[in-house]
Amino acid sequence: MNDSIKRAKDLVEQAQRILVITGAGVSAESGVPTFRDATGLWKKIDPYKVATPEAFEDDPEFVWKWYDERRTQLKDCQPNPGHYAVAAMEKAKQDGFFLLTQNVDNLHERAGSLRLAHIHGKIYEVRCTKEYTIREDFQTPLPELPPKCPHCGALERPNIVWFGEQIDTDAVSQTESFISKGDMDLVFVIGTEASFGYIMDWANRSEGSNGKLIEINPGTTSLTASADIHLSGKSGEILPQLTMNL
Ligand code: OAD
Repeated sequence: MNDSIKRAKDLVEQAQRILVITGAGVSAESGVPTFRDATGLWKKIDPYKVATPEAFEDDPEFVWKWYDERRTQLKDCQPNPGHYAVAAMEKAKQDGFFLLTQNVDNLHERAGSLRLAHIHGKIYEVRCTKEYTIREDFQTPLPELPPKCPHCGALERPNIVWFGEQIDTDAVSQTESFISKGDMDLVFVIGTEASFGYIMDWANRSEGSNGKLIEINPGTTSLTASADIHLSGKSGEILPQLTMNL
């Protein structure tokens, strides 16, 4: 165990309040593609063709085919040791823990996480475009594309936040509610490019108190310079070392 990992492990053990922010990198070792890496999803398809309300309006079937493939591919993916370590942190800190994920997969939940919010929505939820009702649908592939609302028959869309849309307001309230309850001793930013301002803002909320910011990422990001500790490597290999014997 190197010095930085040892320091981070001590901080985890001492911390009473921890906020964890995750991105696609935490699921990479489960076989879920990231977005902006060399082999990432946004290198294969223009996000404006599948992840905007305009794209959906133009061609809902095309957009749904892309999501249906992702939903189907995700079905075979299992949580990795990184997801389990995050759940172990929550088990140890209970109400002193909150997880904010940008991921639309359900691998954190499947590893046991309970205190979490999906800021970019969930891939196994579909939303009626007329009544805005949300339902879970785990069928892969979906029997009919695009799916229709079982209640009113209107078109349904993936319950995912697309470019140009507002982030999930319930997820924002849950995160702000956790932050408002007291200073955070530790904020983790794991497996994300932190491309969005709101992610940077939440990550930097440990500033002003004695809190520390720890980043886990094999590369560097816009947050690396402000991190107190940057742990360079895969989250599935680093995180279990931090929660060992917790
Ligand atoms: P990105 O694809 O932008 O970034 C993934 C990050 O994970 C990169 O910084 C990688 O270096 C890092 N990474 C790769 N493998 C890793 C591993 N094994 N362990 C730890 N880190 C690893 O994904 P996000 O930052 O999550 O939005 O992207 C944010 C949002 O942009 C996504 O939620 C998605 C996308 O548009 C929506 O779909 C709404």
